Amino acid sequence: MDLIHFETIDSTNSWLKNNWTELEDMTFVSADYQTAGRGRRERRWNSPRGQSLMFSLLIKDSVLLQKHQLISLLAAYSVVQLLEDSGIEDVMIKWPNDVYASGKKICGILLEGISQKALQCLIIGAGLNVNQERFEGDYLHEPVSMYQLTGKKTDIGELRLQICGILSENLSKLAKGHDFLPEFQKYDYLKGRRVRALINGEEKTVKAVSLNPDGTLRVLVDDRETDITSGEISFHVRGEIL
Ligand code: BTN
Repeated sequence: MDLIHFETIDSTNSWLKNNWTELEDMTFVSADYQTAGRGRRERRWNSPRGQSLMFSLLIKDSVLLQKHQLISLLAAYSVVQLLEDSGIEDVMIKWPNDVYASGKKICGILLEGISQKALQCLIIGAGLNVNQERFEGDYLHEPVSMYQLTGKKTDIGELRLQICGILSENLSKLAKGHDFLPEFQKYDYLKGRRVRALINGEEKTVKAVSLNPDGTLRVLVDDRETDITSGEISFHVRGEIL
């Protein structure tokens, strides 16, 4: 794995998007500060300098690209492992790609794909709240940091190396055919919860039933089960969680 670190960058995801053709599979880019950090749905992702673990990982391996629907869950699961290894409890994956700790958002993941007819590469971007003492401003989902949960500051450089190790191990297991579904289901935050979702362009309240082997989410809508995709990376959106 190639590791590149910037003190300041616009966005680690954007940097990989602009440079992916020249870079090796599994290039890992991190930053202390992003001037134009991006979240999902064109939202901004802001974090004060040196307070969070912000990184992006480039995937070009064709076997993994074929499994792109599982990659965001795998990234979230890898962050869950990192947090559990750091002694944080009650950590869950909020499908398709957020990580929650004690019911609050601790990590957001932005998965982007570059396609030229076929999918050429995937970029997994993650922002994990580490040492923030408080969060200013309005948030759609209430945030929390590792510090707020443990009362201890964490060395972000060490976390960075740990997540590199966890991600490479999990991605190589996935490439070899390991079935992560039981692990994903164990940490499924949405299971049994009512959520608002877009179903065929219409906003509805649905009940999350289970995570499927292909990374989609089975939901109950108007007493009928249907499978929905995340919308971020899917080429064929049947529904998405708002
Ligand atoms: C979200 O919850 O909306 C996803 C947030 C993803 C933020 C990370 S920080 C590192 C990488 N670079 C970006 O510009 N975004 C992702």
